Amino acid sequence: MEKASVKPYKGIGMEGSIARWYAANTRKGLKDFHALARRVAGQLAPGSAVLELAPGPGYFAIELAKLSSCQITGLDISKSFVEIARRNAEEEKVAVDFLEGDASHCPFADESFDFLLCRAAFKNFSEPLLAVREMYRILKKGGRGIIIDLRRDASQKSINELVDQMGLGWGSSVFTKLTFRFMLLKRAYTRSEFEEFISQTGFHQAEIEETSTGLEITLQK
Ligand SMILES: C[S@@+](CC[C@H](N)C(=O)[O-])C[C@H]1O[C@@H](n2cnc3c(N)ncnc32)[C@H](O)[C@@H]1O
Repeated sequence: MEKASVKPYKGIGMEGSIARWYAANTRKGLKDFHALARRVAGQLAPGSAVLELAPGPGYFAIELAKLSSCQITGLDISKSFVEIARRNAEEEKVAVDFLEGDASHCPFADESFDFLLCRAAFKNFSEPLLAVREMYRILKKGGRGIIIDLRRDASQKSINELVDQMGLGWGSSVFTKLTFRFMLLKRAYTRSEFEEFISQTGFHQAEIEETSTGLEITLQK
């Protein structure tokens, strides 16, 4: 198997109280999900088939459903998150099909989606190369995928600034900074590692934008 295609651990499942803690904290950043959904909605044709890979509590997919007529599906490996996301969609009175499943082994036919998004989750995948290959397989020709994630070479200072903007309480803020430092940064990828994955898939090339803490990768099929 190719270099770095499988991580040496299976990943920590985000279930139960961890999922509930994450859902409550990220809800404080709803305006960011709204802004991202607004940007994406402006680029999609009415009725587009959209997939959010690893949506967690589902905030992006739900905001997009409010702003567009897209047919939206979410696929997450965590049973708890699928339950939370379904409840959130019900409360917001929008239709999003949240399903349980693995991004590296998607339960969808070839060429099913016009657009897909994967935010703050790629680093968690235990089979990342397979996940990019699945993105290629399930996108329609001309379809587009966006991966947004932390970059491994982000400085501690920029991470601290990012967490400070999240509006968390003191305890959650300290916990989140430690989680970034000792867990998330270690799992994240650099730009060149992403380029290496992409070169092993049908996408061949990608547009990569950098911020001080993250990467946004646009994949065009
Ligand atoms: C940090 S959360 C991000 C959730 C959401 N995308 C967001 O922006 O808030 C990471 C998500 O990845 C999911 N996940 C991890 N491995 C997965 C896999 N192999 N397939 C699908 N989802 C996965 C977790 O269950 C969790 O919902």
